[in-house]
Amino acid sequence: MTVTPKLIIHGGAGSSLQGKGGVAIVRDALYAIVDEVYALLESGASAKDAAIRGCQLLESHSLFNAGVGSVLQSDGQIRMSAALMDGTKQSLSGVINVTRVEHPIEMAAKLQDERDRILSDEGAANYARELALPVFNPITDKRLNEWLEDRKEDFKRTMANVVAEAPVEAAGSKPEDPEAGRGTIGVVALDSTGAIAAGTSTGGKGFERIGRVSDSAMPAGNYATSAAGISCTGIGEDIIDECFAARVVVRVTDGMSLADAMEKSIAESTANGRDLGAIAIDATGSISWGKTSEVVLAAYHDGTTKGDSLEAEKASMSVTV
Ligand code: GLY
Repeated sequence: MTVTPKLIIHGGAGSSLQGKGGVAIVRDALYAIVDEVYALLESGASAKDAAIRGCQLLESHSLFNAGVGSVLQSDGQIRMSAALMDGTKQSLSGVINVTRVEHPIEMAAKLQDERDRILSDEGAANYARELALPVFNPITDKRLNEWLEDRKEDFKRTMANVVAEAPVEAAGSKPEDPEAGRGTIGVVALDSTGAIAAGTSTGGKGFERIGRVSDSAMPAGNYATSAAGISCTGIGEDIIDECFAARVVVRVTDGMSLADAMEKSIAESTANGRDLGAIAIDATGSISWGKTSEVVLAAYHDGTTKGDSLEAEKASMSVTV
């Protein structure tokens, strides 16, 4: 039986995008990627390949905090983390705190076939060499300047502008500043065979201590089974404390609808004072997003039409076609 493919992607979560210019720029960026990746799914690509391609495109966009445009850590270095989960195999692979590569998601994808599927720091660096990945510097002037500014203040900020800040509030940014909205990125896809995959990639929180581990390469931040897939964004520690991605998927596996699982999990996270957002798809084709923050930068294709969460007021929403 052929299934109508579904796709949802995200570029972070945070406080409101108030400037219309900001919303339009983020929407255009997300929709261009949705269009390209949904076309792949329509032409028969697997959910896994769609998730990888979507993450590559988001990693290459300097608007978002992953790959190019990643934030700098406290020592001025960029360390990135990414994960891929193939729902058909229920298999997570990923890299933690990898440096000098263009697409951390490609390493996560290669690790799907390895016996040791999650590599960090030195192990991830060795693996990048083994794969003969070209050395790539993902730093942008904007990120370097943010770090230099913060160094003047002795790193008083607890995190960089990694989430979708209101353009008028973002330090040093103009209302139309296309780089004012940014964050961890993620993709969840359902392909025409009914398979689900989820991918997530991040530059982390920014200004964090060396060795800090993100949620993005953990089942807390990226998870998929044959029942559902989910990618999270927001403060990694909050996502880990809720074990948010696995929590939603387990609820769906146990019989709860995706809409109810997302709504309940977001309500619990809100009650616990967490700062996070998530995107998800289940095997019935239901698409969902949720947030405890003011905005999650999500866009989707349901097989008929595109939509997004950029100006949504509700804490969660599901689309069932
Ligand atoms: N959610 C990304 C991070 O906190 O590292």
